Amino acid sequence: MLTTREIPTVRPTARRTEHPVFTNLRQAHDDIRRELDVVDGVGRSLLADRRFRREHLSELCAALAFLDVVMPLHAEDEETTLFPELCRLDPRGARVRAAFERVREDHRGHGVLEEMLKVSILRRDAITAGKICLELADTYREHLLHEEETLFPWAEEVLTDRDLLDELAEEMEHRLRDCGLAARRRGR
Ligand SMILES: [Fe+2]
Ligand SMILES: [Fe+2]
Repeated sequence: MLTTREIPTVRPTARRTEHPVFTNLRQAHDDIRRELDVVDGVGRSLLADRRFRREHLSELCAALAFLDVVMPLHAEDEETTLFPELCRLDPRGARVRAAFERVREDHRGHGVLEEMLKVSILRRDAITAGKICLELADTYREHLLHEEETLFPWAEEVLTDRDLLDELAEEMEHRLRDCGLAARRRGR
């Protein structure tokens, strides 16, 4: 097993009264963090070994297969469903829009890094792949924390209309169902 656990991940404390919209978003963060731990561990191992081994490939490809599906879905939940409503209703106005814009930029950046990582795997370029693994894990962890410390609390403070939240949850559920993932998420 190549995966290391040197960097402790942050596990946000579940709130008993939170709406499923927020439970599901935080669950997605936990799922993504678990895969980022794998990416981080493989990256360190690649930089130490300076070559690809079979274990590197199997662990990294499994993590990327997961992130390839979950990252865009989760980004869409945030960019299309949750944060536009927050921008519409939050009296902080420009401050919220700036934080949302940063999130959008981050999502684009993670997508670019993931594509670069795939190319480096195809080329069996262990050093480049190792560096990208560490950058992807670091920047994505920072992104998750930013959302959890800023945008999610703002959204929980402002989006209190139960009917609206139920609509947002339904929209997210549809998105998962279209990918055949709804039952998996619910069953966790
Ligand atoms: Fe995000
Ligand atoms: Fe997120």
